Amino acid sequence: MSVHTPEDGRKVTTFRLIEMKQRGEKISMLTAYDYTMAGIIDCAGIDVILVGDSASNVIAGNVTSLPITLDQMIYHGKSVMKAVKRALVVVDMPFGTYQGNSKEAVASAIRIMKETHADCIKLEGGAEVLESVKRILSAGIPIIGHLGLTPQSINKFGTYAVRAKEEEEAKKLLEDAHLLEEAGCSALVLEKIPAKLTAQVSAELRIPIIGIGAGAADGQVLVLHDMLGMNQDFSPRFLRRYADLNAVMTSAVQNYIEDVKNSYFPNENEQY
Ligand code: KIV
Repeated sequence: MSVHTPEDGRKVTTFRLIEMKQRGEKISMLTAYDYTMAGIIDCAGIDVILVGDSASNVIAGNVTSLPITLDQMIYHGKSVMKAVKRALVVVDMPFGTYQGNSKEAVASAIRIMKETHADCIKLEGGAEVLESVKRILSAGIPIIGHLGLTPQSINKFGTYAVRAKEEEEAKKLLEDAHLLEEAGCSALVLEKIPAKLTAQVSAELRIPIIGIGAGAADGQVLVLHDMLGMNQDFSPRFLRRYADLNAVMTSAVQNYIEDVKNSYFPNENEQY
């Protein structure tokens, strides 16, 4: 197995993501929501850390990403930023903080940047949020767009099934991707769409396309807890598990319980 180590320790910027696409270097991206995990994946060499609103599901145990608040996203963003030296850190704008109007959108984005010190924000949607996108960009805040399966719209979609399989939805996605690039977005996340459509978007756009369940792209993103195998209940086809931390943690905790119950812990060397 060859281990990729970044050729230098230079901070990843949105400009460097575009350069990476130009020279054909794939972009690696994972979520993180806290100091410890962010520090581990940054040291491992990840290019982009997404403080995703999936924290609503993964950390807070909500069924959807909708309930997480701006204050909570800022809390996670600040925790991650304290640990990260190299990766580009992107904070998701939570549901309800940018869809209403562009004035509220720019105020929410400014709060994220001012209070977390993150590098970039991510938001979901195309034409319907374009005014907000433009206003945030004009405030000097870089944006990563998110199209395809956009979990903040789950109540409209009704299911987490693959999006844009039909021609009409695929056409709108392609148009939205162009609108976001023309507005000045730095990259796009495409979630759960046919691989063929991802390839077309990637070929037509200059900015990098980062896929999740979207086939080959300029980069890939996964939810950290899912790829580490911490969550046994979520097994979509696109998820590759790189560890079985659920089993490792369960066994460690069971060994600890056993040692405490049998008075094997602490031993003489583990006390003062
Ligand atoms: O919130 C999140 O984790 C995301 C990824 C699934 C892309 O938006």
